Amino acid sequence: LASTEVDLSAIQPGQAIKTTFRSQPLFVRQLTDKEIAEADKVDISTLRDPQTLEERTVDGKKQWLITMGVCTHLGCVPLGAGEGENRGEYGGYFCPCHGSSYDTAARIRKGPAPKNLEVPKFSFTSDTAILVG
Ligand code: FES
Repeated sequence: LASTEVDLSAIQPGQAIKTTFRSQPLFVRQLTDKEIAEADKVDISTLRDPQTLEERTVDGKKQWLITMGVCTHLGCVPLGAGEGENRGEYGGYFCPCHGSSYDTAARIRKGPAPKNLEVPKFSFTSDTAILVG
């Protein structure tokens, strides 16, 4: 199966883009310091799908949140990776189909989705590029 290279150089802190990986939506987001702090202060024992931001990102680069843009409930594309889109009450992504809210680590916090947005396998090929897959 094909890998996808994503150029990060134009993605500013606080910005997320939507691209595609293996014909599915992929969200690539640079978190702000505030968004990282919000993700880190959560007690993961309270989470439906307990994971830290560290576990969902690469060592030393936890501002780069790479996830599939596929809601784990029934597969809609959540909002939040476009200009002016609703990121929901936890500031990450919001699925309008049945109201699932994800936080700034794209972890499920409210609504029917059972799992966090999936983090695909990826690695950095330079400071400003990743290879997904
Ligand atoms: Fe996202 Fe149902 S598909 S909440």
